[in-house]
Amino acid sequence: MTDRFVMPMPDDFHAHLRQGEPLMQYARQHAGQFGRVLLMPNTMPPIFNVARLTEYRADVERALAAIPDSERFEPLFTFKILPSMLAAEIESFARAGAIAGKYYPSGSTTNAADGPRSFDDVDEVLSTMEESGLVLCIHGENPEVPVFERERAFLPQVERLLARYPHLRIVLEHLSDEESVRFVEQGPANLAATITAHHLLFTVDDMIRDSMNPHLYCKPVLKFARDREALRSAVLSGSKKFFFGSDSAPHPREKKECTAAAPGVYSAPAALPALVELFDSLGSLDALIPFMAEYGAAFYGLAAPSRTITLERAPWQVPQLIDGVVPMCAGKTLAWRIWGRN
Ligand code: NCD
Ligand code: ZN
Repeated sequence: MTDRFVMPMPDDFHAHLRQGEPLMQYARQHAGQFGRVLLMPNTMPPIFNVARLTEYRADVERALAAIPDSERFEPLFTFKILPSMLAAEIESFARAGAIAGKYYPSGSTTNAADGPRSFDDVDEVLSTMEESGLVLCIHGENPEVPVFERERAFLPQVERLLARYPHLRIVLEHLSDEESVRFVEQGPANLAATITAHHLLFTVDDMIRDSMNPHLYCKPVLKFARDREALRSAVLSGSKKFFFGSDSAPHPREKKECTAAAPGVYSAPAALPALVELFDSLGSLDALIPFMAEYGAAFYGLAAPSRTITLERAPWQVPQLIDGVVPMCAGKTLAWRIWGRN
């Protein structure tokens, strides 16, 4: 039984660090665990122009300055695609260093009321992104159908998108159902997907069974055992099309333990040890390495990680509350913990 597991420093290709004072704390939880973190733009206000991107970058850099050098991650920036955007704005995002634009269908998730209603609304944006080499990240849910069907009901739109923009790199974010896994597997090389820790670990029964755990409520909602199996198999298959994005989405405890609970799982504090435990139990610890530290960077055209992280097999109890937020696996004892980094 190995007691230490060394891997290249993982990247997180989908995270919400929010804005303002909480950003300082949330950034701390990614520190020392991830080498690069792709920051989602659904802040308040959103990242919808270059001035706002520049301001957000300064806020993130201020948060990172409070973190020791050896634990600091590299932030990667995105912008939120809005129906009114023009080609010149997309080019200016690319010049300002954003690497991806995020498409949230109107009404699909937290802070998405202002999103486009269809890809046709943003044709100019998408063709400019294709020309500029920007990646399109998609929250792939159709909010007009029942909640468990939303992701698969969105796939025909992606099919049309692939035909219309054959050179656009597309990431379907936080994949959650079996049909979507098959769709990505069978799609062209410019189509990939992120997978979260919570969709690999849990099913809807972990959220709602004898009692209800709002801290596992997220978009897209956790699905069924066969879906989780398909996600696990996709990672174990070694396909380059699937890579890690935590979708760590902190909401203060009082916004989760209430009526109208907000969707989002605060997974960053526990995702890495929990995934090491999962893949170890599946007998495939090695499959975690390309999934978390290779394929995402390759898809985005980034260098391989230069640092490593070491985990040790030693019990670690996940805190009940971190900075006012209940994290994934709160109160549970995980079998691995972070030991150090190089
Ligand atoms: C995210 C959030 O809270 O910003 N929530 C979620 O349930 N995943 C938004 C998102 O990525 O959908
Ligand atoms: Zn998200």
